[in-house]
Amino acid sequence: MVPGNVLMVCLGNICRSPLAHGIFQNLVADQNIKVDSAGTANYHTGAAPDPRSIEIAANKGIDISQQHARQFVVEDFDQFDYIYVMDKSNLQNVLQLAQTEGDRAKVSLLLGNTEVEDPYYGGTDGFAIVYDKIQIACQHILDQWKN
Ligand code: 4NP
Repeated sequence: MVPGNVLMVCLGNICRSPLAHGIFQNLVADQNIKVDSAGTANYHTGAAPDPRSIEIAANKGIDISQQHARQFVVEDFDQFDYIYVMDKSNLQNVLQLAQTEGDRAKVSLLLGNTEVEDPYYGGTDGFAIVYDKIQIACQHILDQWKN
């Protein structure tokens, strides 16, 4: 894999993908790489990340409080080289918008075969688990870029 622009996608763009956005952005801060996030739904357009995501990121030294939710758009396939989705429902929704095989090839589950489960309706523990899974996956992407 070669380095490229990365888009992180979940359902609402307020819990999981803002964390993935902040974590990956932090890891590639010294590189000329665009990192962003989006949701497949538009429920929270314009909203800041969930306070529980802001808090867990802040505890790790990453500020995601200035992010604003937006919905995934077809043009994202042109702007990004890698589109990482959190769960299989996101995967289906993004692939439905793909127009070419090249678009489809950009999309994959962030964790490979398993999902980053939605922590929205659970407690703060869920956000800590999500954070750790995303952190490991982001580091794994960077490791792949170096080989
Ligand atoms: P996210 O979590 O997809 O990780 O941002 C959710 C946020 C909001 C809702 C669902 C999931 N919601 O139904 O409003």
